[in-house]
Amino acid sequence: MFPPRPTHLLHVLLADIIQPGDTVIDATAGNGHDTVFLAEAVGDAGRVIAIDIQAEAISSTRRVLEEKRFENRVDLHEGSHAELAQYVAKSSVAAIVFNLGYLPGADHAVMTQVDSTLHALAGAVIALKEGGVLAVVCYPGHKGGDVESARVESCLRHLENFRLAKYELLSTQRASPFLLIACKKSDS
Ligand SMILES: C[S@@+](CC[C@H](N)C(=O)[O-])C[C@H]1O[C@@H](n2cnc3c(N)ncnc32)[C@H](O)[C@@H]1O
Repeated sequence: MFPPRPTHLLHVLLADIIQPGDTVIDATAGNGHDTVFLAEAVGDAGRVIAIDIQAEAISSTRRVLEEKRFENRVDLHEGSHAELAQYVAKSSVAAIVFNLGYLPGADHAVMTQVDSTLHALAGAVIALKEGGVLAVVCYPGHKGGDVESARVESCLRHLENFRLAKYELLSTQRASPFLLIACKKSDS
């Protein structure tokens, strides 16, 4: 589709940033589309940490990784992304992706929540290395997603030492998903 949806645009943008051998995180593995993209980008020498709170999502992601023969590049964790900082060293990660909301085709009651998302973002900020990129797809069009999207945007707008951008499709229907990109500047 053109112009691209935020979920596709994030792959276009991150493809320029992620290098072979990098460590990256998929904080919401879901059906594995983003994890597969990240596994391809980091190559054989890289590492993807992929997290999802639902066993169903972890199984789907494992299945698509096996189809692509990328399973050896990825550590899958069933649990909350609120704990993501425990999986990586401080200032070591090149890119972190959050695709918020619920798992398509599954129980929509299980969706990302403001408190755990904000906690995870705080961990992500610490985990990113200089020049590293945080990419968050927000869904303000569903109940709960409106508040979460606003809180996430506000949180990123208040980050010091990051460059921030926001991309969205303009739509006459319900609030469109949007992509937030935050790039960690160097301290010097
Ligand atoms: C929109 S889907 C992600 C789509 C996925 N990135 C893909 O490429 O298919 C959102 C996912 O977030 C997961 N999720 C919800 N709360 C979570 C949490 N606290 N920690 C980790 N994952 C969570 C859901 O289980 C769901 O699979």
